[in-house]
Amino acid sequence: MRPSRRRSAELGHGFSYRQAPRSTASGERHSELYCDDVPLTSLVEKYGSPFYVYSASVIWERLSAFERGFHKVPHTICYSVKANSNLHILKLLADLGCGFDVVSGGELARVLRVQHRAAKNIVFSGVGKTYVEMEEAVKAGILLFNVESESELGVLAQCAQRMKRMVSVAMRVNPDVSAKTHPYIATGLHQHKFGIPIEEARTVYARALGSKYLRVSGVSVHIGSQITDVRPFSQAMERVAKLVRELRSDGHEINYVDAGGGLGIDYEKDNVPLFPERVAAYADALLRPLRGLRVHLLLEPGRSIIGPAGALVTCVLYHKTNKKKKFLVVDAGMNDFQRPALYNAYHEIVPVLLRNQRNNKPVDVVGPVCETGDFFARGRELPTVQEHDLLAIMDAGAYGMALASNYNSRPRSPELLVDKKRVKLIRRRETIADLIRAEL
Ligand code: LLP
Repeated sequence: MRPSRRRSAELGHGFSYRQAPRSTASGERHSELYCDDVPLTSLVEKYGSPFYVYSASVIWERLSAFERGFHKVPHTICYSVKANSNLHILKLLADLGCGFDVVSGGELARVLRVQHRAAKNIVFSGVGKTYVEMEEAVKAGILLFNVESESELGVLAQCAQRMKRMVSVAMRVNPDVSAKTHPYIATGLHQHKFGIPIEEARTVYARALGSKYLRVSGVSVHIGSQITDVRPFSQAMERVAKLVRELRSDGHEINYVDAGGGLGIDYEKDNVPLFPERVAAYADALLRPLRGLRVHLLLEPGRSIIGPAGALVTCVLYHKTNKKKKFLVVDAGMNDFQRPALYNAYHEIVPVLLRNQRNNKPVDVVGPVCETGDFFARGRELPTVQEHDLLAIMDAGAYGMALASNYNSRPRSPELLVDKKRVKLIRRRETIADLIRAEL
């Protein structure tokens, strides 16, 4: 059981409570949740519920924190598109000079669509790239392929040769480091499907020399996601740094180290240091082992850029009590937001209108989907809310809409991007017609 009360200062820059200008009928003052300078109640009037809302200022602040944290070394931030691939979010990041980490032809197409010249800052990761996806990426002229197996290297060599185009490659190595995160999102141990075991990497690099169209230029690693202790990053980087030295002594030109993504965010509001300080600690963990190597560092953050920038706003449909158990049934479901169902993930839930600060009996916040796993919180103490009230599920910007589905034939929610006072509909609500179109 966790209390779900937070004062505005703790809500991050994008989302904050402001005192409502008018008193309620009873004379009681209430506070209202804003995204930047926009009250969330005004959005529900126009766009209905549920909806995702993102704060442009939070995205900007977080990207800037990364830039500042790594300013001492040559680096490129390659935002991990899988976290949130909305075209308008990608455009905002591309306009800020960000690069991109993609893992499919679809993600590649999205980035090229918003800014073709961003191709020169794209890294292509993923354990199962197809020939066709490789062709698209070679055609676009991306920065780097992160190759995950010897077989994949062979197919990429064929692709480059047929297209007569030079292709830069890094091997994604598996450093056998434990990342202390949810087992479904740890990737850096030898039993995971990702990467080439670091001890076998030199052999695979040697194979790459056999193709005149492959240019070996880097080493890549990604040990998992939502990692809050920076020590595993440091351990992985030490192993990578050793490999870079060995590869150079083997005659390879290694210019890039891609450190992947994975920096965790503060879902539980545990009084952890502010984001710029956490980025500084992360930078220190990565850069210390790389000292003296003179490489260009690539970073692939996803969650830490977009997670806290987004919330899912949902309306309470019903109060329900089964024996002693209390439920709030809301109009968003696990199809809209899967993280609690998939990873038992904790997300703070706050009322959009805060009428009093008293917490009530613990409730389960559940959706309308026909699955017991369709919950957003269990046994959570929330301030009193009534039917038709709005709740905001916080830190939902990453792996929220990106993982949404049409399960139970539910149209997906709209997405709104708020920049100070401006609101932009960046994805309209799906219709039933959208759902059945491909089947007709
Ligand atoms: N680079 C690679 C190669 C990755 O596989 C990932 C995430 C990232 C970068 C970005 O990691 P981030 O900075 O966002 O932690 N759906 C899960 C997360 C899956 C992460 C998959 N790979 C969740 O909701 O927690």
